[in-house]
Amino acid sequence: CERVTEGSDATGSRTLLNRIYTELYITEGQSEEVHTQHEVRQLETRPIRVVLTNGVAGVGKTFSVQKFTLDWAEGLENQHVSVVVLLSFRELNLIRDEQYSLLELLHVFHPTLQKVTAEKLAVSQLLFIFDGLDESRLSLDFTNRKLLSDVTQKSSVSQLLTNLIHGNLLPSALVWITSRPAAANQIPPTCVDRLTEVRGFTDAQKEEYFRRKFSDEELSSRIISHMKTSRSLHIMCSIPVFCWITATVLEHMLTTEQRGELPKTLTDMYSHFLLQCGLDVTEASVYSGVCTEIFKRDCVIFQKPVYCFVHLSIQEFLAAVYMFHCFTSRKTKVLRDFLDIWNDITSLHEFLSKSMLRSLQSKNGHLDLFVRFLHGLCLESNQRLLEGLLGQTENSPGTIQRVINNLKKMNSVKISPDRSINIFHCLMEMNDLSVHQEIQEFLKSENRSKRLSEIHCSALAFMLQMSEEVLDELDLQKYNTSEDGRLRLIPAVRNCGARFHNELTRNSEDHQGVLLSLCGGHSH
Ligand SMILES: *[C@@H]1O[C@H](CO)[C@@H](O)[C@H](O)[C@H]1NC(C)=O
Ligand SMILES: *[C@@H]1O[C@H](CO)[C@@H](O)[C@H](O)[C@H]1NC(C)=O
Repeated sequence: CERVTEGSDATGSRTLLNRIYTELYITEGQSEEVHTQHEVRQLETRPIRVVLTNGVAGVGKTFSVQKFTLDWAEGLENQHVSVVVLLSFRELNLIRDEQYSLLELLHVFHPTLQKVTAEKLAVSQLLFIFDGLDESRLSLDFTNRKLLSDVTQKSSVSQLLTNLIHGNLLPSALVWITSRPAAANQIPPTCVDRLTEVRGFTDAQKEEYFRRKFSDEELSSRIISHMKTSRSLHIMCSIPVFCWITATVLEHMLTTEQRGELPKTLTDMYSHFLLQCGLDVTEASVYSGVCTEIFKRDCVIFQKPVYCFVHLSIQEFLAAVYMFHCFTSRKTKVLRDFLDIWNDITSLHEFLSKSMLRSLQSKNGHLDLFVRFLHGLCLESNQRLLEGLLGQTENSPGTIQRVINNLKKMNSVKISPDRSINIFHCLMEMNDLSVHQEIQEFLKSENRSKRLSEIHCSALAFMLQMSEEVLDELDLQKYNTSEDGRLRLIPAVRNCGARFHNELTRNSEDHQGVLLSLCGGHSH
């Protein structure tokens, strides 16, 4: 954990984690979706043994885990824990069809623990960290499980995990699982003692990230000032991985001869990122660039190299590029299957609104980023960049305005407030800042009698949620809007009450310190 790789091995050399680690903003509690899946329970009456940390793609879950482990290993925090076992689901996937005992699993993944015996394990304070549940290919079956209580008993990896989480195996071991929200419901609510959420960077932390990233102060200042002039980029940079993509693309553009307008939206950034990779569809050598820049070689346990995207958002971007390509080249079957429709789609605005509806139907938001990219791709600037990949499209100002208007009006029954916020993000990707500006004026004027449309409410919810000022209360009746609009404000509730800045490791004298402190230790 001492050194980490940002990006692929080819581009990002391994850097000292402590040099680049920027604190993250982490809260206790969860989004309302998780609430529905994880009913609220009386947590105070029982010890906190299993913690589930949610966070959207690229928000810094893995870095948090590594920083936590490094601080422990350096003797700085949580010294009451005697063994920290860090395992990623990506690695566990490699042995999903094999039989291991828990003890063997530890030995295989952490050879330094070779000498640790079953007896020793039983009397040690262990913390298991399972990182990246969303990448799991294990089928975790919590209903029909074989009871395991012996660490030397062989079983499937998923049974080892379910038994560990249930507390049958090593009942006193602490368990920390990280996941994207989309996959978190694989763990039954009754097994989770505490939920936390990584929310990314605050405004100050965004700047700190760029300053730490570059030793060249002039370069970091230029990147920061560009980020601030683009509202869309500034908002998106609350997600650390977007800061990394931004840093990579802008560093290249600012330090080479390349002239021209700097990218302003997330889709712009990813389009530029892809071109840097040297991806040129007319070249036969297309795959070489892709393989070194957007895939990284990971975990070489058992001498099996595993390739993965430097970040999953790149896969989502490529998926959007592909679907856009299918639209322009009239691959009707792919479109019909994806959109779940029978008729053919010919117009861009219809294609986008159907895709948006499809994403809004998702319970867990797995298409959120994908549709954001899809909207960004209909801008002329990105089509010019990715011409060879996307094909010819209609993009008259009239069409673009129509797409924007559709987004502003979009409302369907029973869409979750979180999905609705994504409509606002899509507007930002299309460079439409009107809703954002109107809400900023609304917040400044403090005039609550202004009527808010549904899309206004989503924008407001997002801004309140990300605001550095904690709300004491959220009184939905205070806002002049429809019932649907009021519903859309609910995500702002996440910014009420307790919050803290990555105090991952305080309170360690406390015997529950490690896990309590993940959540700040003081709840609302
Ligand atoms: C809500 O907004 C409408 C339209 O601006 C206005 O006519 C109405 O008086 C407002 N209601 C309240 C309670 O302020
Ligand atoms: C508040 O907004 C309403 C509706 O937009 C407007 O009629 C009213 O004059 C405003 N009040 C103040 C004090 O600005």
